[in-house]
Amino acid sequence: MEFVLYEGNGAVGTITINREKALNALNSQVLDELDATLDAVDLETVRCLILTGAGAKSFVAGADIGEMSTLTKAEGEAFGKKGNDVFRKLETFPIPVIAAVNGFALGGGCELAMSCDIRICAENAVFGQPEVGLGITPGFGGTQRLARLVGAGMAKQMIYTARNIKADEAYRIGLVNAVYPADELMAQAQKMAGGIAKNAPIAVRNCKKAINEGLDVDMDKAIVIEEKLFGGCFETEDQKYGMAFFLDKNKEKVKEPFQNR
Ligand code: CAA
Repeated sequence: MEFVLYEGNGAVGTITINREKALNALNSQVLDELDATLDAVDLETVRCLILTGAGAKSFVAGADIGEMSTLTKAEGEAFGKKGNDVFRKLETFPIPVIAAVNGFALGGGCELAMSCDIRICAENAVFGQPEVGLGITPGFGGTQRLARLVGAGMAKQMIYTARNIKADEAYRIGLVNAVYPADELMAQAQKMAGGIAKNAPIAVRNCKKAINEGLDVDMDKAIVIEEKLFGGCFETEDQKYGMAFFLDKNKEKVKEPFQNR
């Protein structure tokens, strides 16, 4: 892979968009490589992913403006679909994904972060949907996910004005969960991912599925989705072990890692 790096660290995998010269802008090759990287993640061992950008300046500065500049209507639609398909794969990826936003997250970069389950960022992070200033709409899910995350009013303001916001404002409106000094960001991401990875993996996956799928339907249907996924946990060895461990009154016992079974 030329533009996407993958590094495993036990149960935590880190994906890095690695096109630093263009501030990690997303061209078709980056999108293809991200897609292939996700397909190659070993879900038997990896329980949480971190997604970040190479270098100290940018997470992802958007879709590649050079590549987009000559697109026809049909090609524009196809490029939007290409990005949307990969981002949807990420959003519905079986295990949680934490975006560690280490700088610019503009346009497709903000959209990429929003396709992750959780966003944390460095103090130098900048978020925005600058597309209308370029004569286009957000095209990798921004019109949909930003409104769902921060509410329609704030999303419309950000998108119509094309104004970028800094980390503190992104935190205030709920676009990111936490802001850290830049040199602490990856350690904090690893710490959070490690905390997720030590919980029962099937239960964590079922939580992701229940939240994602439940948000797309009305509450009556949503609670049925939850019931099925809750019930499914009772077929797992990890549920039997987790509850037996709690009920065991022997204070000397040491909790074993969950088996993902
Ligand atoms: N596409 C292609 N190249 C990009 C890029 C992008 N989105 N963002 C940055 N680059 C390139 C620059 O062209 C420049 O390349 P050269 O060195 O070859 O000239 C290099 O990255 C460094 O960028 P700058 O010199 O501009 O760096 P800066 O520090 O002065 O500015 C910035 C940083 C404010 C992020 C600025 O680069 C910028 O505004 N980038 C574009 C941001 C943007 O508009 N993103 C949205 C794109 S549209 C989109 O994403 C559509 C969608 O929803 C799918």
